[in-house]
Amino acid sequence: MAELVVYFSRADENYFGGDIRSVGVGNTEKIASMIEEVTGADSFKIEPSNPYSQNYYECVEEAKADLQNDARPDIKGYLDNIEDYNTVYIGYPNYCGTMPMHVFTFLEHYNFSGKNIKPFCTHEGDGFGQSVDDIKRICPGAVVERGLAIKGDAIGTAKKAIENWV
Ligand SMILES: Cc1cc2nc3c(=O)[nH]c(=O)nc-3n(C[C@H](O)[C@H](O)[C@H](O)COP(=O)(O)O)c2cc1C
Repeated sequence: MAELVVYFSRADENYFGGDIRSVGVGNTEKIASMIEEVTGADSFKIEPSNPYSQNYYECVEEAKADLQNDARPDIKGYLDNIEDYNTVYIGYPNYCGTMPMHVFTFLEHYNFSGKNIKPFCTHEGDGFGQSVDDIKRICPGAVVERGLAIKGDAIGTAKKAIENWV
């Protein structure tokens, strides 16, 4: 049965080891592309209806507010054939200790019972935070497998880690 890579990732300004830089493609999107390459999986990007600010600090404030309010921000679209996939790679940046709330919006839309979920995340030092526990909680009945967490500065050399993991 087919495999799917679902991910959230934000381009624009981000923090890279002490510097704020603007990027065209986010870290998680780069990892998602490598997983697609290695596995041949289909992919789907979770896109916010109202994207967070391009400004890094404003984005952090907006993301924190959504987390504190336990918000489920709207996303632009959903996949209508999730039943075709038995293994779903779910990728996101660590935002304030868990996943961006848009990923909660996406996951709660479906019934993942009986599916294998393989979480992956990119981060600046905190790894998965509590995101894997959150996935287990909001996807009851899913088999949540060991995940792969990659720090921003290790993206360039992540291919080997991805090959071993998938
Ligand atoms: C709003 C926001 C909150 C973040 N919170 C954390 C955090 O709590 N822990 C951490 O290690 N990294 C944190 N980061 C860093 C991101 O997880 C990291 O830069 C990630 O690779 C960004 O992925 P992306 O480029 O795919 O969006 C945060 C970044 C943003 C923008």
